[in-house]
Amino acid sequence: MTYATITGWGKCLPPAVLTNDDLSTIMETSDEWIYPRTGIKARRVSHVSQSELATLAARRALACAGLEASELDAIILATATPGTLVPNSASAVQQALGAHRAAVFDLNAACTGFVYSLTVATSLIQSGMMKKILVIGAERLTYLLDWARRDTAVLFGDGAGAVVVEASDVESGLIASKLGSDSEAREILHVPNFGSDRERFNDTDGHYIFNFEGQEIFKRAVRGMGEATATVLAQAGITPEQIDLLVPHQANVRIIEFLAKRMNADMDKVMVNIEQYGNTSAATVPIALCEALEQGRVKPGSYLLTAAFGAGLTWGAGLIKW
Ligand code: ACO
Repeated sequence: MTYATITGWGKCLPPAVLTNDDLSTIMETSDEWIYPRTGIKARRVSHVSQSELATLAARRALACAGLEASELDAIILATATPGTLVPNSASAVQQALGAHRAAVFDLNAACTGFVYSLTVATSLIQSGMMKKILVIGAERLTYLLDWARRDTAVLFGDGAGAVVVEASDVESGLIASKLGSDSEAREILHVPNFGSDRERFNDTDGHYIFNFEGQEIFKRAVRGMGEATATVLAQAGITPEQIDLLVPHQANVRIIEFLAKRMNADMDKVMVNIEQYGNTSAATVPIALCEALEQGRVKPGSYLLTAAFGAGLTWGAGLIKW
């Protein structure tokens, strides 16, 4: 049996920090409103492109794995905010890294993008078609924000995380995965004026608006992630008690707490860093994984459970054996 072991990891958080107090100087909001509802205290704002964030995270992951970019068979870039639509953003990463042998593509499953991409990478390796794949989650979500809208501007941030996965015969890496999408609710989280559906010449104000129904998303997120996590545990024959660390998507600390409760897990078994970074969409899971490793919270043989949901409404979960 071939496994897709995670051999390297890296992250890139832009240095510019925007706190809740900073935001309260430009819009009618406050730390007292934002923090208790979301768990967010600050977010990062990038002044460089999405592909540069992705490239930096990728370089760190490659260095950690001890791999040259030229050895990569593929680069999968999970993102909903590609720097360019044509060509894909992954090709900019390929160019910057010099990964000349790699197949490259972007994968858009919004905030679930990294879980989807890790599943695709694992399948490509397990099929024997590829041996070394770089999986990145990178977003420049602040580009889509209207800083005059307090309902959305306070929630999101920029960042990137990456992992290298390599073929191995040791049981490790993603060992179970469940992906899905609740598209009957695709309208409840969307950016309406981005993409070729829009009227090309009638809508030229350049404002990209995030529209979402927060409470409905909350309900569906808890349901989707709950179903997905239960399915992967059943697939692998693992009980919730055997999970050493939960590494969930970071959209709202209350959603994370719900998920932990559903799994009977104490919060000390949950990786939470939303306080510093807000919701970085496809980047939250690899950044959280990276920080869990940096903090020594992942030991060899550990079981990690990741779960995410995002626009679509996509959802998914993955069980990783370290
Ligand atoms: N500061 C101060 N007041 C605010 C702010 C703000 N930043 N934002 C909204 N308000 C006000 C609203 O105007 C409203 O006032 P009103 O009652 O006078 O009209 C009041 O606060 C309540 O607003 P709601 O939108 O109903 O707030 P809610 O309690 O639903 O909390 C939140 C919003 C935190 C987004 C919540 O719905 C949530 O966590 N949802 C799930 C996560 C989510 O939706 N994330 C964004 C999408 S991305 C993703 O999840 C993948």
